[in-house]
Amino acid sequence: MYPVPTPADKFTFGLWTINYLGIDPFGGPTRNAFDVVKVVEKLAEYGAYGLTFHDDDLFGFGPTEEARRNQIDRLKGAMAATGVKVPMITTNLFSAPVFKDGGFTSNDRAVRRYSLRKVLRNIDLAAELGAETFVMWGGREGAEYDSAKDIQAALERYREAVNMLSEYVIDKNYGIRFAIEPKPNEPRGDILLPTVGHALAFISSLEHSEMFGLNPEVGHEQMAGLNFAAGVAQALYHGKLFHIDLNGQRGIKFDQDLVFAHGDLYNAFALVDLLENGGPNGGPAYDGPRHFDYKPSRTEDEAGVWDSVQANMRNYLMLKERAKAFRADPEVQQALAEAKVAELRVPTLNPGEGYTELLADRSAWEDFDPSVYLHGKGFGFVKLQQLATEHLLGAR
Ligand code: GCO
Ligand code: MN
Ligand code: MN
Repeated sequence: MYPVPTPADKFTFGLWTINYLGIDPFGGPTRNAFDVVKVVEKLAEYGAYGLTFHDDDLFGFGPTEEARRNQIDRLKGAMAATGVKVPMITTNLFSAPVFKDGGFTSNDRAVRRYSLRKVLRNIDLAAELGAETFVMWGGREGAEYDSAKDIQAALERYREAVNMLSEYVIDKNYGIRFAIEPKPNEPRGDILLPTVGHALAFISSLEHSEMFGLNPEVGHEQMAGLNFAAGVAQALYHGKLFHIDLNGQRGIKFDQDLVFAHGDLYNAFALVDLLENGGPNGGPAYDGPRHFDYKPSRTEDEAGVWDSVQANMRNYLMLKERAKAFRADPEVQQALAEAKVAELRVPTLNPGEGYTELLADRSAWEDFDPSVYLHGKGFGFVKLQQLATEHLLGAR
């Protein structure tokens, strides 16, 4: 049996995920969209904590003021009736033709100014709905051709834009933090801030860098051939894991947005273990929403959509159970000790030691025998990974 989700698990879903119509570059919709009220009710029924959305997901692009307000009020009514929260919202600066060369970094200055206005308006909405996190995914901020985009100027315009947005949040006293979502490509041939590392470097250049963190997505790092759990660990290390997009991806190809754990299961196991048990004292390393940004495959009908919603949450909770059992297993603890995993926490230098003392320490050089590492002193990492495998497959 699988564990049953509750709002305490903090599972959230993008409105655009459940309402993905199945459109891809080779075919049109295979499903219709659901009304937002129905989506909120279904999420509540399945034990989710919250809903997230882009402005356009809720009221379309360029709605009348009445249509916009009507949809916001309908959402608020559903939230009040069910207890479902909106902890994050984001802006669509990628679907409408006006954004064909991006929003904040379009070569067209008028488009950049329009984009800022769209985002400012959406920040007000985030505050109105009590969202704490404002995600920025720059899907169209990029180019196909090296000659078409001055990358350094684009980064400068990106910086100009987000510096101004942080000023706005400060002046308005909104309790909102920004989370930048890296992606290497798709829809653009190459996207700015393509990986966790690029985004971290960019954030450190901002005027209010403390207000900016990351919203890394499983599939996006994996599209670049990177280890997602390792990237998240680095984001945590820098205090920058503000939000997370969970889904599944199988290798370096187009963005699959599969159900969480339906891609690289090992890395999903490592990720859940990290988020849940990777804190400094073995507790959770991250306490924000566990946000699913996936696409129910276009083969699915309505039943398949709701199955996929539940699959995301169940997979997370099953991996959480597996990770807990892995950590509690005495054989695993023994193998971790043999692998010296905890020894890496011990500083390499003694307290107060500098190069003078190190140079005087004969045991570090003169009396140290590196030759014993040939055909000896293995770390036993394979044994440890096999224990992880046995836990993951339910054999322990
Ligand atoms: C993707 C992206 C998007 C963003 C979303 C938030 O799959 O390429 O993840 O889904 O997360 O648009 O702005
Ligand atoms: Mn994606
Ligand atoms: Mn995403």
